[in-house]
Amino acid sequence: MTYILAIDQGTTSTRAILFDDQMQVAGTAQQEFEQHFPQAGWVEHDPEDLWNTTVDTCRQVIGELDITAADIAGIGITNQRETTVVWDRETGKSIHNAIVWQDRRTTSICEALREAGHEPMISHKTGLLLDPYFSGTKVSWILDQVPGSRERAANGELLFGTVDSFLIWRLTGGAAHVTDATNAARTLMYDIRQGEWSAEICELLNVPMAMLPEVKDSAADFGVTQADILGGEVPILGVAGDQQAATIGQACFEPGMMKSTYGTGCFALLNTGDAPVASKNRMLTTIAYQLDGKPTYALEGSIFIAGAAVQWLRDGMGMIDNAAQTGELAPNADPGQDVLLVPAFTGLGAPYWEPDSRGAVFGITRNTGPAEVARAALQSVGYQTRDLWEAMRADWEGDTHVTLRVDGGMSASDWTMQSLSDLLGAAVDRPVMQETTALGAAWLAGMRAGIYPDQAGFAETWALDREFKPQLDAEAREVAYARWKRAVQAVIGV
Ligand code: G3P
Repeated sequence: MTYILAIDQGTTSTRAILFDDQMQVAGTAQQEFEQHFPQAGWVEHDPEDLWNTTVDTCRQVIGELDITAADIAGIGITNQRETTVVWDRETGKSIHNAIVWQDRRTTSICEALREAGHEPMISHKTGLLLDPYFSGTKVSWILDQVPGSRERAANGELLFGTVDSFLIWRLTGGAAHVTDATNAARTLMYDIRQGEWSAEICELLNVPMAMLPEVKDSAADFGVTQADILGGEVPILGVAGDQQAATIGQACFEPGMMKSTYGTGCFALLNTGDAPVASKNRMLTTIAYQLDGKPTYALEGSIFIAGAAVQWLRDGMGMIDNAAQTGELAPNADPGQDVLLVPAFTGLGAPYWEPDSRGAVFGITRNTGPAEVARAALQSVGYQTRDLWEAMRADWEGDTHVTLRVDGGMSASDWTMQSLSDLLGAAVDRPVMQETTALGAAWLAGMRAGIYPDQAGFAETWALDREFKPQLDAEAREVAYARWKRAVQAVIGV
């Protein structure tokens, strides 16, 4: 049996998943690691944790299946995007903790660039907005903080990478400083139209170009693991940022196909084909995947709080013992109460981009209890998705009969998916395969290795678990959505 090893290095845990030659999950290993919050709004990871959990989980899953490196035809890497690492070329050690995508410390750098009038140029080239979410201002901040680092970076002594790039550097023993186009597209320094790093933006950010990785297709030869790490040399053949890998794993290969992943946050990507679509509604333009030198573009909407609203009910409010309870409580909520939650716990992401807003609950009565709040938390995910859905469809001039494919932890909740379909007024398709992110990375590597089908053949393997169709009448849906919009405006105004 030949296997493909997928590494999914996420925000809170690292997973290693072995897929067999039929693209089925043969084994998984997972490890959580520590989150560092040095100040309010700051989020860091220790790059050694990212590395150690990667090596440990890979060794664990290989050991559990009792196979060897020789049985693995290739590795596919998918990762939390935007998170920024700067390391020493000689020692492989980072010069600062990784600054995580959620980190807001570079808000003032973004504001200064905006005030100086640079946002239109940066948005045109990168498809992104001036928000601390992306890597560029984080690199600049690290170079500002660590004495002498800018000069060392200019001399080629320090390297920058997103997490994929850092892991590949380590896995290959420093032989490859590379990334793929989907990860490059999240850095705020990559011109997604020209397919190259932007000298103009790097100069504005004061980031020496000598420290940037080589950008490859998502299926390519990224290097070979050093033999002592996994007990033999294994080629790294696939790389994609996690939301792009889920888009691939969901086989959203045709323009007009959209996927939405419900984890801690929610990230929706709409395939727009071979031309980038500039958003008029504050969506991001990004690369969905790049194969054979040809980028396929997407519109992306990023919501920061989805499953995190349920975690808040559990950990913050103590209203539930486990996340699944919300699905039991919500159907029993009082239909006469219209409790509404705007979960702007860390500000609002797309399409509002209001980093300073905070959350609110509306419509509380004397009878409001955990069931009504649980329902409001689950519905908030649907309302936020509707915001993205509306914005993307307004931007997208192709066929508006977009298909929505869902995945991620919350997609397992039938109640939540039905409510999502009701609020969108559209069908929501949930696949049989729940490991879409890892599958996307595995397929890239397996296709490159020649053991998995080509793109069309892979798309045919996508199988429907359940389709949720709208049951709410159109008038009730629009009344509810209008109320949500008013609630968001109230939150922004406070
Ligand atoms: O853009 C951030 C995203 O890639 C993080 O995904 O699944 O690690 O929370 P996740």
